[in-house]
Amino acid sequence: MAKERTQVGIIGAGPAGLMLSHLLARVGIDSVVLERRSREYVEKRVRAGVLEQGTVNLMRETGVGARMDREGLVHRGIALRFEGGDHRIDFEDLTGGSTITVYGQQEVVKDLIAARLAAGQRLHFEIEDVSAHDVSSSAPKLRYTLGDESVELECDFIAGCDGFHGVSRDAIPADHLTRYEREYPFGWVGILASVAPSAEELIYSSHDRGFALLSMRSPTLTRLYVQCDRSDTIDDWPDARIWEELHLRLATDEGFELKEGPIVEKTIAWMHSVVTEPMQHGRLFLAGDAAHIVPATGAKGLNLAVHVVRVLSAALDLWYRSGSPAALAAYSETCLRRVWRAQHFSYWMTTMLHRFPTDDAFQRKLQLAQLRWVSSSRDAAASLAENYVGIVRV
Ligand code: PHB
Repeated sequence: MAKERTQVGIIGAGPAGLMLSHLLARVGIDSVVLERRSREYVEKRVRAGVLEQGTVNLMRETGVGARMDREGLVHRGIALRFEGGDHRIDFEDLTGGSTITVYGQQEVVKDLIAARLAAGQRLHFEIEDVSAHDVSSSAPKLRYTLGDESVELECDFIAGCDGFHGVSRDAIPADHLTRYEREYPFGWVGILASVAPSAEELIYSSHDRGFALLSMRSPTLTRLYVQCDRSDTIDDWPDARIWEELHLRLATDEGFELKEGPIVEKTIAWMHSVVTEPMQHGRLFLAGDAAHIVPATGAKGLNLAVHVVRVLSAALDLWYRSGSPAALAAYSETCLRRVWRAQHFSYWMTTMLHRFPTDDAFQRKLQLAQLRWVSSSRDAAASLAENYVGIVRV
């Protein structure tokens, strides 16, 4: 078995793992990133698309923001659409100048991969059988197979950034972990269509038939979602049905026109929330979907992952510079405050905008009363805006 060494072994080349490696490199800490999938797969994986102000600033400040600044779309607000009309939430005005940037997660991933490879980073794709060992000791290890070779990677620390289905959580004894979970009884059918977006800003529509969302990726690519039942499969949603529902759910009294175009990508995803506590065991630190999943309604998933690895890289930096374990010891508690804030916001947005199968007419009236309040009270709108652009204090 080949032996290698690094300071921080990172499992997963999604936004969490790549950003962590990038931030560590900037403070002179060596890391190795291991990814089960191919480079092509992770660069094409269509996911979220909204970057908070803090994520945008971080990308810029750490030298990976050039393409985002060229191609990303800066949005100063969103629309809540209900009862046939739009109610704009003006982020810039309500937050004292913050905005969001629409830039696909896979674009962030591409930029980070390019930066890591340009820096000569050990970043391995298509690795097999990765496992974490001795995480409670001061010499944790990762074992994996790369091509024909079995490798043992000695590390000071391990970061588990390998997503919900990853292996890193399994390295923590089950009786040390508590899992908090909420399944929503619906999902989203998502499409990417080759057509100019029918609106300039995102539209979150709460309709009697269910939720719909208009988003975008570029001036020529529209991203659209429709709420579907938990029991649906993608086969239940032929293109014609998706367009029909989108037209119905996005209709306004003023005759909103939804432009159709060829569907280039179609996905189905379930809405659920998961938090695993604590996010650390010995020298293994969990970050991103490995520890926390939020429903997509609040657009928090990627931003939360970025926030968490920022905390982790600062804590590791402190340890390497001064030997102080204080920030590492506080990692889980520090992150979980933000994780739960994001959970609450995502839950709040999700329940405000979707139809639940158990909802009665009374519940719908309550939902509409809430939507009217959020869009007419400045304080209520400001609370949505503050959470959406990325809360500073938690
Ligand atoms: C997206 O563009 O993919 C998107 C935007 C906003 C959300 C979720 C997804 O809340």
